[in-house]
Amino acid sequence: MNPIMETMLNHRSVRKYTDEAISDEMLASIIACGQAAATSSFIQAYSVINVSDPEHRAKIAAAAGGQVWVEKAPRFLVLCADLKRIDHCCQQEGLGALEGQAEHFLAASVDVGLMAQNMMLAAESLGLGCVFIGGIRNDPAVVAELLELPDQVFPAFGMCLGWPDQDTEVKPRLPVDVVLHQGKYRTDAVPEQVAAYDQAMSEYYQARSSNQRVSNWSEQTAAAVQRKKREHLLAFLQGKGFLKR
Ligand SMILES: Cc1cc2nc3c(=O)[nH]c(=O)nc-3n(C[C@H](O)[C@H](O)[C@H](O)COP(=O)(O)O)c2cc1C
Repeated sequence: MNPIMETMLNHRSVRKYTDEAISDEMLASIIACGQAAATSSFIQAYSVINVSDPEHRAKIAAAAGGQVWVEKAPRFLVLCADLKRIDHCCQQEGLGALEGQAEHFLAASVDVGLMAQNMMLAAESLGLGCVFIGGIRNDPAVVAELLELPDQVFPAFGMCLGWPDQDTEVKPRLPVDVVLHQGKYRTDAVPEQVAAYDQAMSEYYQARSSNQRVSNWSEQTAAAVQRKKREHLLAFLQGKGFLKR
């Protein structure tokens, strides 16, 4: 174990912040750390919008299902998967415009995810607390309109950052040997592994210091996934030039 690994293992999402500001310099270094992440074919397919307008924040918080931390966080960023610049390069090089290939959508989505996680780790190493906001995909059209996102750019998720004003426990993850398969994928152990983890998470949910509940992992995640079908997404993404073939 080293300090970087300890920071990683100490991660917990933070949704309550003090009023202390985050300087532009600090934000720029966090974003530079994000940009240091590996990027598919070096395309750097991401953009970050720093949203400071309180009205925009309020509208985005409402679109995200009333997440007050989107309004209150010292910084709120929208992380976009961005093929706009690469589309420009393709046309400049006489190779034709991008045509909405699934491969490029996936590459841009992975790029922005890797960048965001590097940013979160950098921020947490400075003592900041953060939470990602997938809730912006409830109404990506509103977000895209407010932020004037062009074609080939979609708002993947948001990120709140601030100095923590809450101390929550680390959420236990699945045991390593459940996610690490040796040589081939094993499905036979799934029911038993999920049952054991449900038991562990049920104990965690009942014992944690805030937001206690009688529940388990299966119940929480199944409900969350089925609640977030977001069936408008395919049409929205296709309207922005993604996922056409
Ligand atoms: C892409 C992504 C989107 C998320 N969206 C939200 C969100 O909209 N609101 C929220 O409160 N938490 C959101 N989260 C945080 C997760 O709920 C959280 O990471 C998960 O429950 C594990 O808890 P932990 O981060 O404290 O370990 C999101 C996380 C990710 C990776």
